[in-house]
Amino acid sequence: MSDIQIRPLFASDAPRVAELSRELGYEVSTNDASLRIAGLEARRESAYAGLVDSLLVGWIHAADRRLLQEPPVLEIGGLVVAETSRGKGVGQRLVGAVNRWGRKRGHTQLFVRSNVTRSDAHGFYEVLGFVRDKTSHTFSRSIL
Ligand SMILES: CC(C)(COP(=O)(O)OP(=O)(O)OC[C@H]1O[C@@H](n2cnc3c(N)ncnc32)[C@H](O)[C@@H]1OP(=O)(O)O)[C@@H](O)C(=O)NCCC(=O)NCCS
Repeated sequence: MSDIQIRPLFASDAPRVAELSRELGYEVSTNDASLRIAGLEARRESAYAGLVDSLLVGWIHAADRRLLQEPPVLEIGGLVVAETSRGKGVGQRLVGAVNRWGRKRGHTQLFVRSNVTRSDAHGFYEVLGFVRDKTSHTFSRSIL
């Protein structure tokens, strides 16, 4: 049995966060990861590290999503577990940590957007009780 631990993410975790972000498909420098983690507390956001046998193998980040047209929800902005450490319950424990964090702050809804290509993640979220609400396209462009 592996020893799984969940703890807040620290700026010193940046090199491993950057590595794991690559598994999620994002190229992030260690410096940028470090600056983003350091800014979490001021923005009242939540991020946790998942460790197996003391090695950081996963991270999750969640933040308030505040829109005019609906009550605030807690949005999972990123979640990844190293391929070699999947299926051990780390992802579930990371979601549990942001769930508890949100409940303490009065949130009642946990929300996540997941690319249509991430079918593994969709099965995972459904096992955890998430319900598929809708399918959207996202659009972006440079600021002119
Ligand atoms: C999605 C992800 C975070 C899951 O992490 P994990 O640590 O492997 O998941 P867990 O071991 O905690 O699984 C929790 C439960 O979900 C189930 N589950 C996990 N992956 C699943 C899948 N692909 N299909 C169906 N169920 C799945 C597990 O069987 C487990 O259920 P159980 O408690 O009944 O056994 C991980 O696969 C991952 O990092 N994927 C790549 C990145 C990604 O897609 N991130 C999400 C972006 S939105």
